[in-house]
Amino acid sequence: MDRLIIQGGRKIAGKTRVHGAKNSILPVLAASLLNCSREEIVLKDVPDLHDVRSMLNILTCLGATVRYAERDIILRTDRVDRCEVPEHLMREMRSSIFLMGPLLGRLGRVRLCRPGGCAIGPRPVNLHLRGLQSLGAAIEEKEGGLIEARGLLRGGEVLLDYPSVGATENLMMAAVTALGRTVIRNAAREPEIVDLQNFLNLMGARISGAGTSTITVEPSGRELGGGCYRVFPDRIVAGTYLVAAAITQGDLTLEEVCPEHMTSLLQVLEQAGVEVETGPRRVRVRGGQLKAVPLVSIEPYPGFPTDLQPPLMTLLALCPGESRVLEKVFQQRFKHVPQLNKMGARIRVSGQEALIAGVESLEGAVVEATDLRAGAALVLAGLAARGETVVTQIKHIDRGYENLHLVLNGLGARISRVAEDISGGEAEGASRRVTAAASPGEALP
Ligand code: EPZ
Repeated sequence: MDRLIIQGGRKIAGKTRVHGAKNSILPVLAASLLNCSREEIVLKDVPDLHDVRSMLNILTCLGATVRYAERDIILRTDRVDRCEVPEHLMREMRSSIFLMGPLLGRLGRVRLCRPGGCAIGPRPVNLHLRGLQSLGAAIEEKEGGLIEARGLLRGGEVLLDYPSVGATENLMMAAVTALGRTVIRNAAREPEIVDLQNFLNLMGARISGAGTSTITVEPSGRELGGGCYRVFPDRIVAGTYLVAAAITQGDLTLEEVCPEHMTSLLQVLEQAGVEVETGPRRVRVRGGQLKAVPLVSIEPYPGFPTDLQPPLMTLLALCPGESRVLEKVFQQRFKHVPQLNKMGARIRVSGQEALIAGVESLEGAVVEATDLRAGAALVLAGLAARGETVVTQIKHIDRGYENLHLVLNGLGARISRVAEDISGGEAEGASRRVTAAASPGEALP
């Protein structure tokens, strides 16, 4: 089990880029199943993330062929003919539910079980299922979380009770194959939805409205084909790096990013006393005199993103005064709090609310990453803390950050990744497909 050992107290400074958005690539990979032609789909600059590997495993198991060319992934999906996703692969991540819409649309039938994913509160799929039923699917839920759906889809009106990101994406993919026009109301507005629309339209779909709360899917009138696509830069990874600079009083410039996707974060950073400068596809953050932020409300986009709530919490832990965070998206996304408190933070949770009494400094400790973003928050805490911090269970971090420790080291951090071998000794973390030198997150000259 790998862990990260962080020597705190070093500034994060320099220039870097971020890899493509995990939460765009996963639905885009699922959407590639809608390509029945022999044309290839080329996805540019795909990060080597655990969740991406899991999705590629599933696609392969369904009959797709996957090739790598450096950091690009080349997919052929014309031979996909299996409508059943093995349970162990479904349970690896939440995004496996994205397969439902495209498989149902393509094959008229799908059989899978409830997905796994980060333990951050109940994550039902009722909105996915209800939406697909509105498009004509017959759905049966069986014992053990097994779900079977079948039917020829027809367009219709779908009103989501909540702007669920995953349900919106699943419905967009299903609706592309439906007879007639579909309108999705109260749709999620996240940039990843726009990414999926752009990709599906490149394949030949006719979707409009992504980024607003009403999305319209017109029948494309022809089979979808291949194409070459690059997803948006990962706004959550970008935000994590920016907080790393802010919390260490550093000076970081991110290049080739979309500042317009990070407006809510940048506003909160400014409220916290951090200096923020934006330009076209560029953000610079410089540490300042930190101060508490009275209230940060975590909401669907364009509100403050739940995925950056744990990293922000680490920053607020060091902002003099009292801050308050209201988590309105997930019910149990405060699992990083006991770990941060172990490092000297003073955070009290009551239901969906966290009250943070800023402290002067954090102390190194052995802490456990309980999920992806909680893990990132602890790495940030380690960067700012006095002494040495050990973050265990970092498999969670590998789900969404490619070589996080190497990127941060390129910017001035001192982090080593170690693997405990069975004899109890330690070895340098195994090298992965993408080396530090090839990483898009490497420090720029
Ligand atoms: C996506 O999850 C992201 N994952 C999450 O990122 C992100 O935190 C979340 O959107 C919110 O922004 C991917 O894109 C792969 P939701 P998703 O459906 O689609 C409730 C990360 O760290 N809900 O918008 O699962 C649900 O319980 C991950 O990268 C229902 O009640 O999020 C939650 O409270 C974690 N019924 C809320 O909606 C449903 O059928 C938001 O969930 C679906 C959701």
